[in-house]
Amino acid sequence: MKLRVIAVILILASWSCGNKDKIANDSNGKLSIDPVIEQKVDSVLKLMTIDEKIGQLNQLTGNGETTGPITFATEYQDAIRRGEVGSMLNVNGASYTYKVQKIAVEESRLGIPLLFGYDVIHGYKTIFPIPLGEAACWDLDAIEKSARIAAIEASAAGQHWTFAPMVDIARDPRWGRVMEGAGEDPFYGSKVAVARIKGFQGENLADSNSILACAKHFAAYGAAMGGRDYNTVDISKRTLYEVYLPPFKAAVDAGVLSFMASFNEINGIPSSGNKDLMNGILKSDWNFKGFIVSDWASIREMLVHGIAADEYEAANLAMNAGIDMDMEGHIYINQLKKLLADGKVTEKQIDDAVRRILRVKFMLGLFDDPYRYCDTAREKEMILNPRHLEIAREVARKSMVLLKNNNVLPLSKNIKSVAVIGPLADNKDEIIGTWSARGEGKDAISVLTGVKQKVPSAKILYAKGCDIAGESKAGFAEAIAKAKSADAVIVVVGEAAMMSGEALSRAFLDLPGVQKDLVLELNKLNKPMVVVLMNGRPLTIEWMDNSVPAILEAWLPGTMGGPAVADVLFGDYNPSGKLPITFPRNVGQIPLFYSHKNTGRPRDEAERYTSKYIDSPNTPLYPFGYGLSYTTFEYSNFGISAKEIGMSDTLKVWVDVTNTGKYDGEEVVQLYIRDLVGSVTRPVKELKGFKKVFIKSGEKVRVEFTLTASDLAFYTRTMEFKPEPGDFKVFVGGNSRDLQELSFRLN
Ligand code: NOJ
Repeated sequence: MKLRVIAVILILASWSCGNKDKIANDSNGKLSIDPVIEQKVDSVLKLMTIDEKIGQLNQLTGNGETTGPITFATEYQDAIRRGEVGSMLNVNGASYTYKVQKIAVEESRLGIPLLFGYDVIHGYKTIFPIPLGEAACWDLDAIEKSARIAAIEASAAGQHWTFAPMVDIARDPRWGRVMEGAGEDPFYGSKVAVARIKGFQGENLADSNSILACAKHFAAYGAAMGGRDYNTVDISKRTLYEVYLPPFKAAVDAGVLSFMASFNEINGIPSSGNKDLMNGILKSDWNFKGFIVSDWASIREMLVHGIAADEYEAANLAMNAGIDMDMEGHIYINQLKKLLADGKVTEKQIDDAVRRILRVKFMLGLFDDPYRYCDTAREKEMILNPRHLEIAREVARKSMVLLKNNNVLPLSKNIKSVAVIGPLADNKDEIIGTWSARGEGKDAISVLTGVKQKVPSAKILYAKGCDIAGESKAGFAEAIAKAKSADAVIVVVGEAAMMSGEALSRAFLDLPGVQKDLVLELNKLNKPMVVVLMNGRPLTIEWMDNSVPAILEAWLPGTMGGPAVADVLFGDYNPSGKLPITFPRNVGQIPLFYSHKNTGRPRDEAERYTSKYIDSPNTPLYPFGYGLSYTTFEYSNFGISAKEIGMSDTLKVWVDVTNTGKYDGEEVVQLYIRDLVGSVTRPVKELKGFKKVFIKSGEKVRVEFTLTASDLAFYTRTMEFKPEPGDFKVFVGGNSRDLQELSFRLN
């Protein structure tokens, strides 16, 4: 007769005094795990054979959709029956996940439920702007809400776990995956990471509409050389700790319960075999209680890296590094038992990995009801729910960044005729972007439709003009003719969805194809014209800034992209987004980021022997934190509470911000510091705070910040994280370039 773990657990649960499965915080604010869950996990572990334990560490892909190279047959049902699978990815929909779960629960010896994971990156079916775009809204509540809705939809469709957020800091826009993160800054990236995790995991992981989040890719994947995906990373320990690790640490502190190892090596060690990173920093130093999954076949890829001679060595490296789950690598399932017999790994290590995975399955409530996420009625109700669509529209318009506006925007709603031109103008498939989960272009609303809905009495003249890629200019004449007869021209150009994201690095960051020529031809008409950019990364558009009168960065805005663009263009929403990543003037400047070091010879135009190019300025086209509004903001009365503070004091910083224009609007007030002299060199600016404030036209608000010595801490020469006494500058302003400054001293 089959032994049912669930039955045993139910008995255990009956003497658990009704304790709810949840994460608890101990007095230090660190995560501690509910002892009742630990007892349950132990009792399951005791029932398991070594093969069943190894099975829990094995994650296979489903065959509906795949997100990596397929090396193995995708038949998995018999393996599930044999208890050889703990988790599946790419298995979708409430009824299908139900079917697959049923095999695990009813046909495997112990009936341990499977964990279903999927890349729910910016929405499940209701697609939000790409994460980089969303980060441009500098509104953490909105970002959290977006992740919450993604969780509500994904969980209703059988998913327990999203492989998000990607918290990799990215300073090289050639890297296609910049679209998936929060940009270049560790401080802001940490805040966004926390908001996304809170949104996915909800108040309690045990709620049936919460899903497990996954901080990825640990670590420094964004530092791939040349911006080429999967490429080598070679960085100092200091850069790793100061730039790349902070969002991961913030993720752990926010209670994230899974991590994904990155594909890349750091200084010669691929992450999947990096003991210092996984067992050292993550599990030991940071006391991480969740589990670590490899990336797709990344344990196996250690053979290709040339650090393991065969599968056996790769498994040995990964298990001893602390990787708990093998994603589609088929390495643990083949090799762990042998490694155990040879004494290379211990049963205690295997138990620890299994324990971490079972713990999360308990926390998700899967042992109480393995089918709680497979609810077809809920799936139907939740997916593309009107409320979700409304919030997607709100987040999309908040994410848009006004890059330039020479009195063109907002367009009047009384306009008689508008030309809507460009390969992305009447597009629904591309505008939802890559990594769009189960999102479909057919559910999206194009810019053309959005404009038609916004100004129903205006004459709308549409022409595609050209394709996103390709050399044909055959459509130019029609586009120019239509633009000529219109009162204003909206040109929607940019990248296709599959030009950013995984394995989609670019060496050139121009507008693809002949789109630049189209824009320049249309610009010759001297009409009120706005270019709406849709793209997954910063593009090199200095020529555009030099020519066209208005540019709106709309990213890849998702299902409700069209109406959101129309809201902004016609003034129903005053743009408030700010860039979370620097826009370089040209590819040669990359990597270019605001938080650079001063060097011993900072650029001086008059002095030859200084740090500069002979053929390009050092400055970006648009700096980090930059974005315009239909109104203007003036900063005044910048003040600080003291000229000197001690290590346990607080410095108050304030500034008055006045809305000096005609429109009500929101401003992202930013606070930066500079540590002038340290035991190691410090960046010229570091973001330490921001506040997004709504200010009515003509009104003034006082914005306040506080700084403590710990905000000024960094990794000193001896790699201790602490503040050093000395002189500092503090800056406030609306972007990382245009700032006012004051000085103070830390004693
Ligand atoms: C590879 C990607 O690097 C990772 O981010 C993703 O979650 C997995 N494939 C699964 O699709």
